Amino acid sequence: MSSWEPDSDFVFHMPTKVLYGPGSHREIRAEMADLACDRAVIVTDRGLRENTDLPARIQKALGATCVGVFDDVEPDSRFEIVDAGAAFAAKLGADCLVSVGGGSSMDTTKAISIVMTNGGSIREHLAVHALTGPQTPHIAVPTTAGTGSEVTNVALIKDEAARTKFFVLDNQIFPRTAILDPTLTTGLPAGLTASTAMDAMTHAIEAITSICRNSMSESFAVQAIGMINGAIRRAVEAPEDILARGTLLSAATMAGAAFCNAMVGVVHAVAHALGGVCSVPHGIANSIMLPHAIHFNAVTDAEAYAPVVATLGIKASSPLAAAQMAAARLTELAASCGLQTKLSQVGVNRRQFQEIADKAMADGAVLNNCRPVAGPEEIVALLDAAF
Ligand SMILES: [Fe+2]
Repeated sequence: MSSWEPDSDFVFHMPTKVLYGPGSHREIRAEMADLACDRAVIVTDRGLRENTDLPARIQKALGATCVGVFDDVEPDSRFEIVDAGAAFAAKLGADCLVSVGGGSSMDTTKAISIVMTNGGSIREHLAVHALTGPQTPHIAVPTTAGTGSEVTNVALIKDEAARTKFFVLDNQIFPRTAILDPTLTTGLPAGLTASTAMDAMTHAIEAITSICRNSMSESFAVQAIGMINGAIRRAVEAPEDILARGTLLSAATMAGAAFCNAMVGVVHAVAHALGGVCSVPHGIANSIMLPHAIHFNAVTDAEAYAPVVATLGIKASSPLAAAQMAAARLTELAASCGLQTKLSQVGVNRRQFQEIADKAMADGAVLNNCRPVAGPEEIVALLDAAF
């Protein structure tokens, strides 16, 4: 769907209040008061707490309204961590949760808010659109610019024993407020800056081409692509540049709103599998697979990339040639930011291709891809191209 085509019926959810600005984390007490809350627990990970001053800065801004810090968040937190976080916050009489960190901290906090509100264990609440009312208010303070979790309605958590990731998808778990303060992201290392930004780039491009796309998600995604394309190298090369950092931060949030409403596609299906089978970091997996997925999709639906091509300023003789040029441009962009561009560079083994392909085919994201994926053999071919 290009911008001038009529939409099918759609719903666009973005209930999260977004507060943007250098130093905006200092507004957090006022935001809590807006939510009629006065006892906050910060949810973060120990690495961030020990290696940066970010949780401490939020704690200072909260002052006496911070009643505790839960710092046991892990990458894709386990059920036990979620339940422990909820027990910790309940014991302190918390009425508000403040996540400080990346996607894992925000997703864990969404899950904790469910257990705080509904009791029991998160195991009993692994459902889709089953919650019946507002959950414990959650203020998200992202310290990376990538996942967009601050404006999405999904929480990813894992069952360690079953080696399986689960998710809760529910409009009641949108954070109530997202505080986007670029001064909190200047310490992010170059590699993470680039990979998380490419995750956001992938959210935007997959939202534009998804079969669930609509004109509102497209407008957020197009804006995000232009901003990421314009700011990513500057943020990598000059980490203290607040303008570049802020551009990436708000772009990642817009890309999050875009994919929350339009969904993602085959790149994310494969990236989730690459994370599960070979532990390839999410942003790097997306960055490597994105250009190859564009080649794959453009064979049948090159027109879907028209907004991407236009935003990247590409002119070519046909929609297919333009999409292929966009793919090449994205590979160059990733490489210029120091990211790996081949699966063979990130510890993937050809013998794992079949398992990755089977897992990707079982991932819901593949269903939203603009070109239907016929079977695991097409994923194996994609992996082969990206090797
Ligand atoms: Fe992602």
